[in-house]
This record gives sequence, structure tokens and C-alpha cells, in this order.
Amino acid sequence: MNILITGATGYIGRRLKDRFLSRTDCRLRLLVRNRNKVRPSVLGRVDIVEGDTFHKEALDEALQGIDVAYYLIHSMGADKDYKDLDRLSAENFRDAAIRAGVKRIIYLGGLGVKETASKHLLSRIETGEILSARPECIQTIWFRAGVIIGSGSASFEIIRNLVQKLPIMITPKWVTTMTQPIAVDDVLSYLAAAADKDLTGNMIIDIGASPMSFREMMLKAANVMGLSRMMIPVPVLSPRLSSYWLILFTPIPYKLATALVEGLKSETVVLNDHATCFFAEIKPVSYQDAVLKALKEMEGNQILSRWCDSSGGAVCDIKDQDNTSSAILRDCREYPLGGASRESVFRAACSLGGEEGWFHYHLLWQMRGLIDKLVGGYGLNRGRRARGRLRIGDSLDFWKVADIKENKRLLLLAQMKLPGKAWLEFDIQSDKLVQTAHFLPKGLWGRLYWYSVLPLHHLVFTNLSRQIVLRGQKIDKDGDA
Ligand SMILES: NC(=O)c1ccc[n+]([C@@H]2O[C@H](COP(=O)([O-])OP(=O)(O)OC[C@H]3O[C@@H](n4cnc5c(N)ncnc54)[C@H](OP(=O)(O)O)[C@@H]3O)[C@@H](O)[C@H]2O)c1
Repeated sequence: MNILITGATGYIGRRLKDRFLSRTDCRLRLLVRNRNKVRPSVLGRVDIVEGDTFHKEALDEALQGIDVAYYLIHSMGADKDYKDLDRLSAENFRDAAIRAGVKRIIYLGGLGVKETASKHLLSRIETGEILSARPECIQTIWFRAGVIIGSGSASFEIIRNLVQKLPIMITPKWVTTMTQPIAVDDVLSYLAAAADKDLTGNMIIDIGASPMSFREMMLKAANVMGLSRMMIPVPVLSPRLSSYWLILFTPIPYKLATALVEGLKSETVVLNDHATCFFAEIKPVSYQDAVLKALKEMEGNQILSRWCDSSGGAVCDIKDQDNTSSAILRDCREYPLGGASRESVFRAACSLGGEEGWFHYHLLWQMRGLIDKLVGGYGLNRGRRARGRLRIGDSLDFWKVADIKENKRLLLLAQMKLPGKAWLEFDIQSDKLVQTAHFLPKGLWGRLYWYSVLPLHHLVFTNLSRQIVLRGQKIDKDGDA
């Protein structure tokens, strides 16, 4: 069987790809917008087509000879109206799949009904309808899931952060809304099983474990974490206030928070029994077990994918961002390796951020993060996916990893709100570490910004390059980051 996975650099697609990599009965192809985001160890084991669903040639190439095609794409992060992009993307994909003679499209959308759906969910429903609109030519299996619980999922991060940070929660009305959470591993089991399941015609399959309210979800998560939490319901918290609450206490930025809160107002429960009828062998684990597994993966440094791996924008967020030559202002620091090996200095550079922080001037970094959050950016809260390891496309506080050349170069693209475009580059040469902040200012404000932060850069960046080398020397000596 020839399988195509789209969205293979996103939260669900990345994990589904790993599921299929362990199977020997199928050949796997990925349609990705940026092949650099695919782990080097995977590159030799799959076929890769680089492109997106807005280009007919890329779609035709990706779908040629394919039996089953997974559609795991959305454009929710786009600045332009994402509904239009979602619609065009689904139409292009369906038509190209029909042209290529694909037998089955498998799509994952959201639970909920049109009448009460949020704008985001409406777009997911419309996508499912478009993909399913030509049953005489192609079969579409449309899964619908509500809250997905897994390490790094947006919903889990919200619940975890709220529960861990707030002993007493003042909760809005929507916490009584019913939902049916499901473990990400169960979602993957359904998606993978659907590839070769004997199913006739189009089908909508609702998936979820036991129903519960958001309030129960938070209290049960607290229980799993060994915490006791109190919730005080008030009828006055508006969606806008709830969104501010989320951006303050969770890593979720304003745009995503408002979209999620809008969705919390209406029920997201299973409306058909197709999952039990046709996939009886899959028994979804309980919500508590899903939370426990997600926490264990976090503790064990085993997070496979995160909600912020993809921007879900109109284009890949780090495509062609590994070249800094467009920058016109630079702050360059050099520090001699002093005998440290390049490998260790590279490891030290790759361990920056997240809980490890950025060495000294912690308060300055925190303040920069807070300012970024307040103006709608990510702030520092995204942290990092794994301790000590980075891959291209990883979020790292308010940066995104734009390039990695093993033991040579680490390039971070700034995703903080800035009047311009910025990178931070670590280039390890034979005898020194060259650390450069590159900046392409936007107009006068960009220039003013750059010159106003120069004194802070002087403090922070001089220390940063020095500390990385010192940590590299320590790794050489003690063998530990
Ligand atoms: N995650 C959840 O909690 C959840 C819950 C219920 C349902 N779902 C559904 O599951 C599906 C996948 O969601 P996700 O959370 O995995 O999304 P995600 O993490 O945001 O990933 C989106 C993926 O789509 C790719 N992409 C976006 N636009 C594209 C285009 N035009 N052409 C080709 N690739 C494109 C992105 O590539 P880049 O990496 O280049 O940006 C990325 O790989 C969606 O339909 C979503 O509604 C998800």
C-alpha cells in the first residue's frame, strides 16, 4: 500500500508518520512545505515531495501512485482569512487525489455541529464536506475528535499550566460545557487502522473517550498530578477575559487562545457510534491515563511533536529563513574556544532556553518575554520540546530553529513581535565561537528599536557567547550539559 501523509511536520502528522515508519507493509510519502523540518534519520526511509496544496504540480507529484492519502492540514495561523485558504486547499487536494486515482482520503477534523460551531470549527467542517463531496470518484473517511490529550498538545498544555499554576481558579461559565477528550495515541490508532480497513462509501467517525465537562477535566488532571484545586464559578468571565487569562498562565498566544475559547462555548461530543461499530478493536484509554502518559513523556524528555511545531500559516514559517544575508544591522561577538571541542560548544549552544534559561540576566530575558506576550507574541513560555536536543522547526522560547549544521551552526529565527526581522546565529569555527545577532529593520521604528536595545544587547550577548564556551569546556571535562 502506498500512503501519503500531508501535515507530516505538524502535531498529528509527525506522530502518524512515526507509526507508519514502523510498518513494513507500506511505502510512505510525505508532502511537506519544507524538507528541512523532517528529521535527517527519516529522510532515507520515506519519499519526500516538497510543496503545498496551493500548487497543482506538487500535489500531482505527491499523489501519483498513492492508495491512501491523509489530509492533516489547516491554515488557522494565517493572517489572511484562513477559511478561504482552508477551502482552496481542500478543493485542490480532493481534485488532485481524484486525478491520481487515489482510493481513499483520511481526514481528521473536529467534533461539534455547524449550528453552534466556532469560526475555526466551521472551517474544519467545511473542509470535511469539500473532501467528501465527490463520493462517486473517491472515498473519504472523516474522523472527528474533540480535545486531544498528549504531550505537547495545545489542550493538554492549557490544562497542565492552569492546574499547576493556579491553586484557586475563578472559572467562567464554559467550564461546564461537555466534551469527549481522547488520547493522542488513540487518535493515531484510528487514523492508522483506517488505511486498510474494509469500509464502504464515505464515512464520518466520531472518536472520544468518556464524556466530561472542562471543569471535570481540570479537576481530574489535578488529581493525577497529586494536586488539590478549588474552582469558583462566576457567570461574568467573558471570552475575551478568558483569552487574557489563558495567555497569562499558559504558553498559548492570544490568537490561538481566542480561537480555542470561542470553541469552548459549545459541546464537542461524539454523535455517532461508528468508532465502536467499525473499530471495535480500539478501546480508548481513560482521560486520566492519557494525562498520566503525557506527563510521563514530558518527564522522560520524549515529546514527539508540539502544538507550536507548525504555524499553520499560509506558508511554512521557516521556509527560506536560513539565510541571513538580507539583514543590514549586526551585533557580532567572538569568543575563543580555549581548548573546548566544537562538539561540546555546539551541545552547549543547543541546550539554551526553556527551563535552562539563557545564563545570566534572567530578569532581562523575562521582561522581554513578558513584553512580547503583552503585545500578542509567544513570550518565553513555549520553552523547548526536548532537553539538550533541537531539530529544525523546533520552537525555543520566542525563537524558532531555522537551521542546524551539526557541530557547526545553530540559527534561531526570532518570532517575537519586532519592527523587523531578526536572527541569532552561533557559528563554531576551529578556534572560536562567532555569535551574531542579525537584524533587518522595518522603517524608522525598526532602526530606533535596534539602537535603543544596543546597550542591553551589549550586556546580554557578550555574556552569552562566553557562557556557551564555558559550558562547552565543562561538558568536555564532566561529560554533561
Ligand atoms: N491538534 C489537535 O489537538 C487537534 C484536535 C482535533 C482535530 N485536529 C485536526 O487534526 C488536523 C491536524 O492538526 P495538527 O494539530 O496536527 O496541525 P498543526 O500541528 O498545526 O500542523 C499543520 C500541518 O499542516 C501543514 N500545512 C499547513 N498548510 C499546508 C498547505 N497548504 N500545504 C501543505 N502543508 C500544509 C503544516 O506544515 P508546516 O510545518 O510547514 O507549517 C503542518 O505540517 C487538523 O485538521 C486539525 O483540525 C487537531
